[in-house]
Amino acid sequence: MIVLKGKGFILRPIKLNDSKLYWEVMQDKETAKGFMGVPSSFEEAKKEVKDFIKKTKKGVSQVFTILVDGKYAGNVKLDYQNWDKNSSEGRVHLWLHPDYRGKGLATKALKKIINYGFKIKKMKIIYAQCKKSNKAVCKVNEKVGFRKVENRIVNGVKKVWWEINIC
Ligand SMILES: CC(C)(COP(=O)(O)OP(=O)(O)OC[C@H]1O[C@@H](n2cnc3c(N)ncnc32)[C@H](O)[C@@H]1OP(=O)(O)O)[C@@H](O)C(=O)NCCC(=O)NCCS
Repeated sequence: MIVLKGKGFILRPIKLNDSKLYWEVMQDKETAKGFMGVPSSFEEAKKEVKDFIKKTKKGVSQVFTILVDGKYAGNVKLDYQNWDKNSSEGRVHLWLHPDYRGKGLATKALKKIINYGFKIKKMKIIYAQCKKSNKAVCKVNEKVGFRKVENRIVNGVKKVWWEINIC
């Protein structure tokens, strides 16, 4: 099992028993505003966690749970672009449990998974996309070193496309 250690947190692969807290994150209003869609029931959330585990096992994505003092604090996700394991391009996603926001954790966890993508997965470029209205994640992306590439409209929603290269 891959475990990445950071200052004040660790990242370990997502497990099915993270589903309850994942569901709590998805029920939060700020989360719903940040995403295009969220699961509408615990069963749906559990199904998504199962899919994260499946994709992690297949090696096309790596979904980590962020643990702080051994407790679930959120997730960071690194996908190969187009689910192609041979690609040198990745894409990140993240969400934190409301109890753990506003403490700099997202910035630290995102930096950690990006380093993992570049150093261990040998990726050359990593992308992120978020809603233009999501000020929190835009700030996190900037702090981590992502460059804003362009604004996009996806399904009628204003989005920002970001990228970061290995330095
Ligand atoms: C986006 C998210 C992961 C940020 O987590 P976080 O741990 O609170 O972020 P950090 O504490 O690392 O904050 C980094 C910076 O963003 C700023 N920030 C955080 N929330 C903000 C907000 N709502 N509006 C403006 N700036 C904000 C912080 O002040 C900090 O900047 P500073 O260091 O200059 O003070 C968290 O808000 C979340 O889980 N949101 C819901 C899910 C989501 O939207 N995910 C992204 C989908 S693309």
